[in-house]
Amino acid sequence: MRQPLIAGNWKMNGSKAETVELLNGIKAGIGEVTASEVAVCPPFPYLYLAEDMLKGTAIRYGSQDCSREESGAFTGQVSAAMLQDFGCTYAILGHSERRLFNAETDAIIARKYAVVVSHGLTPILCVGETLEEREQGKTEEVVARHLDAVLESAGAEALAKGVIAYEPVWAIGTGVTATPEQAQEVHAFLRERIAKKSAEVAAGVRILYGGSMKPGNALELMAQADIDGGLIGGAALKAADFLAICKAG
Ligand code: G3H
Repeated sequence: MRQPLIAGNWKMNGSKAETVELLNGIKAGIGEVTASEVAVCPPFPYLYLAEDMLKGTAIRYGSQDCSREESGAFTGQVSAAMLQDFGCTYAILGHSERRLFNAETDAIIARKYAVVVSHGLTPILCVGETLEEREQGKTEEVVARHLDAVLESAGAEALAKGVIAYEPVWAIGTGVTATPEQAQEVHAFLRERIAKKSAEVAAGVRILYGGSMKPGNALELMAQADIDGGLIGGAALKAADFLAICKAG
């Protein structure tokens, strides 16, 4: 039985005051979330607020990225050891916005994945196709490539230490959500692909859906057999919406 995970990816949003308000709002309602595990991923500078304010709660937190290097002369980067130091549980890796705006390749993401796992953090590995790729019938080819970069280099055992998030790029921040059937099809494809390496890992690994998930569509998406929660962007910035999605999980 896979426990649903609802993770909020706050992206580059908020201020110190807004972070405090959002964390307080989520804390106030978390008692009503019974089935799902809940996590938030604020921008790096606000991780200390998560560490401070979420102490003693069931809410976990993580980062939106992580350096592939251990330490040293890498200006502007944040290491896995630092994230660990701040009590992070999760690190989102390979988000399409990082692939696009920071030129992250599958090889870079695979290396980050290995580093994050070696520090005892749980990577949330994002995979997903663009609209053009979907229209060209390349969805499976693309998500397989994103998945295989980690599966082939780190192996199924390492994959078992992470979470996968299927995020069709065309659904991110657009208000256009994949239908439950479209999402389920890709989730099932990913699980079957993992099963070719290890049936046990495939059965246990959580695969989240991300892309315009909202209180109004969360329930039917998560009712699908292979959808184990959500990676939430826009709707994670309002405590009431985020909590409503958490309750649907
Ligand atoms: O990481 C989260 C995803 O990019 C989804 O963002 O819920 O704003 O579409 P969104």
